[in-house]
Amino acid sequence: MSGTSKALEELYASFTQLNMEGGWHRRFPALWAQPRDNFLPHIWHYADVKPILDRAGELIDTELAERRNLTMFNPVEGNIYSTVRTIVAAYQMVKPGEFARAHRHTPNALRLILEGTGTYTVVNGKQVEMRPGDVLLTPNWAWHSHENQGQDDCYWMDFLDVPLVHLLEPMFYQPHPDGREAEVEPLDEAPIAFRDEQITADLAAARPEAAGVRQITLGPASLATLALDVLDLPPGATLAPAQETANAVYAVIRGDGALMVDGARRSWAFGDTVAMPAWRQYALEAGAEGARLLKVSDRTLLEKLDWYRTGAGLAD
Ligand SMILES: [Fe+2]
Repeated sequence: MSGTSKALEELYASFTQLNMEGGWHRRFPALWAQPRDNFLPHIWHYADVKPILDRAGELIDTELAERRNLTMFNPVEGNIYSTVRTIVAAYQMVKPGEFARAHRHTPNALRLILEGTGTYTVVNGKQVEMRPGDVLLTPNWAWHSHENQGQDDCYWMDFLDVPLVHLLEPMFYQPHPDGREAEVEPLDEAPIAFRDEQITADLAAARPEAAGVRQITLGPASLATLALDVLDLPPGATLAPAQETANAVYAVIRGDGALMVDGARRSWAFGDTVAMPAWRQYALEAGAEGARLLKVSDRTLLEKLDWYRTGAGLAD
């Protein structure tokens, strides 16, 4: 070993002792040319999940579990929680007569109802029924509880920005001191509730894009971090979205189809969840009856930070 390399080794050892690294001598790169493939595209099938939720419904009651839900973790190595980098998605079921106690937390949340009627959510004292195809918002620090007053098991999907809160650390959580809000106002319409019928009407009024695909962004009520887009794909239509820096989770509201990514074709159907990390190139193809998808992404956050880019926008 030359005198110089021995001296360098001693220099690097002195860095490590002080919890430092030389910018020219990193064990891992700190900057790279474009978003890397990290989290993986993945599909969870509702047909696989539902029997497990039903079994959990027999074994776990709402006294034991404040929420009876199953979170979907991305199969990327080392991860046991996040569906994509900033978002976690979960399936939840509430049985007739059950009450999911009120709580609040800094993570933003939303729900997409899959099956069942007669279940109500109370968000900051506003009580709205959760009907199939509806999307309901629970913003940062809003009290929320759920109660099934009907005859059907109610199944829905939750989406939260909890992994983002984990990264940035501003986590606060509180159970309601009384378990439920005292003042409750029943409403059929509320800004935080996007009804299936209204979504259908808004999509019908949207200008068709290539292949007849229609897209809307839900609003004006919104969450501070997450963008909610709904896409209608006509029968057989293929949508190949631009590469984008947003991380997304799709949920299948109706119909079926296929995801083409990484050279493979994977099918999806009603109630399925598709994880689509940032900067992937992929296509969604609707089946014979067409399909409606909810796309939950962190585009809203990335736009605020001026980090939202698409592949086509890279030239400037
Ligand atoms: Fe919650």
